Amino acid sequence: MERAMYFLDQKDMPTHWYNIQADLPEPLPPVLHPATGKPVTPDDLAPLFPMELIKQEVSTERWIEIPEELQAVYRTWRPTVLHRAYRLEKALDTPAKIFYKYEGTNQAGSHKPNTATAQCYYNMKEGIRRITTETGAGQWGSALSLAGAFFGVEIKVYMVRISYDQKPYRRIAMETWGATCVPSPSRETKAGREMLEKWPDCPGSLGLAISEAVEEAVGRDDTHYALGSVLNHVLLHQTIIGEETRKQMEMADAYPDIIVGNIGGGSNFAGQFLPWIRDKISGQKPDLRIICVEPESCPTMTKGIYAYDFGDSAGMTPLLKMNTLGHGFIPPPVHAGGLRYHGMAPIICHLHQLGLIEAVAAHQTATFEAGVKFARTEGIITGPEPCHNLKVAIDEALKCKESGEAKTILIAHSGHGHFDLAAYDAYLSGKLVDYSYPEEEVKKAQADLPKV
Ligand SMILES: Cc1ncc(COP(=O)(O)O)c(C=O)c1O
Repeated sequence: MERAMYFLDQKDMPTHWYNIQADLPEPLPPVLHPATGKPVTPDDLAPLFPMELIKQEVSTERWIEIPEELQAVYRTWRPTVLHRAYRLEKALDTPAKIFYKYEGTNQAGSHKPNTATAQCYYNMKEGIRRITTETGAGQWGSALSLAGAFFGVEIKVYMVRISYDQKPYRRIAMETWGATCVPSPSRETKAGREMLEKWPDCPGSLGLAISEAVEEAVGRDDTHYALGSVLNHVLLHQTIIGEETRKQMEMADAYPDIIVGNIGGGSNFAGQFLPWIRDKISGQKPDLRIICVEPESCPTMTKGIYAYDFGDSAGMTPLLKMNTLGHGFIPPPVHAGGLRYHGMAPIICHLHQLGLIEAVAAHQTATFEAGVKFARTEGIITGPEPCHNLKVAIDEALKCKESGEAKTILIAHSGHGHFDLAAYDAYLSGKLVDYSYPEEEVKKAQADLPKV
């Protein structure tokens, strides 16, 4: 029998997150205070985050226990299934073995609830009853709204204008879970108003929506802020994906040669690959390839520079050492809204600097072509972000066809595309356009990098 799904029993769900900071060959560069240029202290971050998350941000403990109350919430959708893509393999006529770990089966439809519920839980424990956030594609905003409903926390979401217009049903989902959602730039914050004065039709960006959410949180004592990606604690919470996958790949008697995933801020893919990269760092699996895929229109890893920059557009956040296109860069309005961010998780950038992971960029029409192939073989309508992984996984599987090698390819599938059908419609009717690398815009934005 060809076994196409690997189930993990709920009693075998991992009880700890894996912290890569315990195993990094060199420690991460410090996060700097924008005014002093000195490393930030827990007190600097306390207006925004609960202390438990601040501790996780800098922890070097290898394993961090998932609180039982949170595990009970995880069990409403976890463990997720590991699939073997036999039908795709046959369609490609490749000897490669293709697996995908699918995070689209929870209530909100992507990997984001793994950290949204954790962040709401720790805020709730410290008595915080209100959180602001940003959302690009709408997946993060949905996940935090869902988590707010689970833990009784009020959620306010600044949604990037272009996605707000492209995906009205995401807003309705957030409102159904009890959250408030406004388009960004908005008139509710100084950062939003300043942008609207300069550019009334601004499509928005994740960096700007972050500025608005941070500004509101800093201005109110009863409110904290939550970020859906980039930070160490967010990547930490996502490692439950890879820890589950390790157990499931063992059930399949397989080990990946290549792991492929999309990166917007880096959280879903890091959640899958960090639990594997420790084998590469330890020298047990020196040949393991980890390929990050990003859009050509927002090529942070392949064309950005590695430097200290702000996490938001208005320059309110601490400075992170990361690959950046410049915090003022507003990416073209591609459909993969979750990949339109000027920066990247410092952990991903650090591992890239150390030569442990690779990065490639893809154009959106090619990614939707792969998404349609996947829908017609495996059946799942994939979100525009993970369509990027499918494109590169298919390319690698076709290379195996040429070479005759039966490599094992593991795809980190971060979510469904049920709210992205307008993008599929544009692709199917030949209206989807590609944007080339906006070199001039990036040069302009990078000229404003903070001096450190
Ligand atoms: C389905 C999906 N995949 C990927 C991403 C990219 O974010 P990250 O790199 O943090 O996983 C997003 C972001 O919104 C998303 O919604």
